[in-house]
Amino acid sequence: MQISEVSLQGFRNLEQLHIKPSEGINVFYGKNAQGKTNFLESLYFCATGRSMRTKYDWQMIGFDQEETHIRVSVQKNTRKERVDVHLKRDTKKGIARNGVPIKKLGDLFGALYTVVFSPEDLALVKEGPGERRRFLDMELCQLSRIYYYDLQQYYRILKQRNNLLKEIQKKTSLQETLFVWDEQLIDYGERIIGARMNFLQRLDVIAAKKLNALTGGLDQLKITYKPNCDRGQMTEKIQRNLQRDIYLGTTNHGPHKDDILFSINGKEVKSFGSQGQQRTTALAARLAEIDLIREETGEEPILLLDDVLSELDERRQKYLMESIDGLQAFLTCTGIEDVIKKYISNENLFYVENGRITAEN
Ligand SMILES: Nc1ncnc2c1ncn2[C@@H]1O[C@H](COP(=O)(O)OP(=O)(O)O)[C@@H](O)[C@H]1O
Ligand SMILES: [Mg+2]
Repeated sequence: MQISEVSLQGFRNLEQLHIKPSEGINVFYGKNAQGKTNFLESLYFCATGRSMRTKYDWQMIGFDQEETHIRVSVQKNTRKERVDVHLKRDTKKGIARNGVPIKKLGDLFGALYTVVFSPEDLALVKEGPGERRRFLDMELCQLSRIYYYDLQQYYRILKQRNNLLKEIQKKTSLQETLFVWDEQLIDYGERIIGARMNFLQRLDVIAAKKLNALTGGLDQLKITYKPNCDRGQMTEKIQRNLQRDIYLGTTNHGPHKDDILFSINGKEVKSFGSQGQQRTTALAARLAEIDLIREETGEEPILLLDDVLSELDERRQKYLMESIDGLQAFLTCTGIEDVIKKYISNENLFYVENGRITAEN
């Protein structure tokens, strides 16, 4: 799939723009704080209905603007799609797909598939389990609307169950009503566990190949799902921990506590990997996502590469650029590094300065 047109109005510091990106790699270069990442963010928003860096949608509206519009046209294998986003300061976000307003965010998924590479990817390996669950959920939601709804339901029920647990502390007779929530929690929870397990098994196989190639066969990557409750075990765990849950006023078991283990040559990357191995692991996971999306949907994802080349040594740069050959990519950088010059022609260059994006051709 390819983005054929992008229009922006009032988006962060960016001036009104209308561009027609080309196939292959589109490079956005310029000094720091000029609006390069902002541009990628607008595309990411059209794919997921969320920002990859801010929590509140209104933060993407230009400081001196009342609203912002994003319009992206996508050419897919057999059809075109258009996504229109409209954010205002005090009303709900409006998103339309092919001119029809969507009712639920899940209806947006599939219009546009993106894979994001950024320096923050390192967090996937280095930070706490929350980061890794976020990675899982973002990927799975893009790929499966069912997963997205299951996840929403799970967290809704979890919240209600936790509220009830606190109520039970004050009034024990309420415990009789708990089973209603437990049944649903387990039902959705088991579905999430199953989906995550399946996804990570496939990711593991592909990512291991990527990392192997990246390191010239030196390093063997293993991605292991670490579910808090194994598949089929949630009922038992929830029942066994009931008194503890009530005592603590919170649900201590379920996929909201899941984690992923990345290991290289049998050692956990987080604790024992070098900075380079941590970076390579994150890179391999992202590259594997590309293949998974392609396998699952038959479409080529669009790549958003935010300032990643400067973080990689030459060998990894080269591997990355070769791996994404043939895909449409939006790549930001501060200087036009040698490696880019080798892979792109001039017509794919955009200069970004103080919110103005200029095509150089
Ligand atoms: N809502 C907003 N309205 C206007 N400017 C914004 C908004 N949010 C961020 N900015 C500005 O955008 C700039 C950062 O843009 P960014 O795309 O992150 O830069 P870079 O080119 O380094 O990737 C900063 O100058 C920041 O003040
Ligand atoms: Mg940036």
